[in-house]
Amino acid sequence: MMPQYEDRIMGRMTDKIALVVGGAKGIGWSIAERLAAEGAKVYLTGRRSADVEHAAMAIGQGARGLIADASNANDLAQVVQTIRQEQGHLDALVLNAGISEPASLGQMTPEHFDRLFSVNVKGLVFGLQAAVPLMREGGSVVLMGSVAGSAGIADYATYGATKAAVRAYARTWTAELVSRGIRVNVLAPASTDTEMMAAVPDDVRAAIVATIPMGRMARPSEVASAALFLLSDEASFITGVELFVDGGMQQV
Ligand SMILES: NC(=O)c1ccc[n+]([C@@H]2O[C@H](COP(=O)([O-])OP(=O)(O)OC[C@H]3O[C@@H](n4cnc5c(N)ncnc54)[C@H](OP(=O)(O)O)[C@@H]3O)[C@@H](O)[C@H]2O)c1
Repeated sequence: MMPQYEDRIMGRMTDKIALVVGGAKGIGWSIAERLAAEGAKVYLTGRRSADVEHAAMAIGQGARGLIADASNANDLAQVVQTIRQEQGHLDALVLNAGISEPASLGQMTPEHFDRLFSVNVKGLVFGLQAAVPLMREGGSVVLMGSVAGSAGIADYATYGATKAAVRAYARTWTAELVSRGIRVNVLAPASTDTEMMAAVPDDVRAAIVATIPMGRMARPSEVASAALFLLSDEASFITGVELFVDGGMQQV
């Protein structure tokens, strides 16, 4: 007998191995938590052992925390090596780590540029390069973009440029990995209620939120729901898209 729809959507990640790079807080934590709740064996990374251990413990379901700097290719290779030894393969990959830092054109420095590109782009590129050999046919990758990649937000040019680069990489990787049966998609949230947005000055945050038709920030769990969809087999014919989780910000 065919399973009922309700049966099929329970445990959408059962028996899958997932890695969330930058999974010890914010949106990454929410994604890791949701994947684990849906049955995945989740590996999550972060730089600080206290945060990583706390996240893995709180998420439970066998979630495993690994210390890694998401901007360091050697750290990411070590994470992948651990998963190779313990599981032998990977089904779902989320490259979530990212930083935001304002600077107007006149304030930009080479250090500002390097900091943002190092975490948001370089870390993501070499994280994917390290992990893809471990991925099986049917695997799914989610890259964390942002509405900032396709909007002009004053003082966030470099951040926006890093997220536009993520979107550009995703198009080519979609084409390159399709022959291996691996899907690649981008999630583009608008302002989401995490430490990253808490660090934004109140007036700037209010001005950004005012441009969101739904009139509020996203909850990390709402971004996680979209990530779960793209990572699950429910999105089996979806690759190369940029899925906006933006309360309509870029749509109207
Ligand atoms: N919040 C928003 O409004 C929003 C909107 C659109 C897109 N996004 C994107 O969503 C992703 C997660 O953001 P979030 O809001 O959840 O922010 P968050 O709570 O501040 O988390 C940031 C993540 O980036 C990692 N990270 C920060 N600084 C790092 C560094 N110097 N080197 C390596 N890794 C570093 C953190 O890992 P550690 O545990 O090692 O610190 C953490 O996993 C980012 O890619 C962000 O650009 C956020």
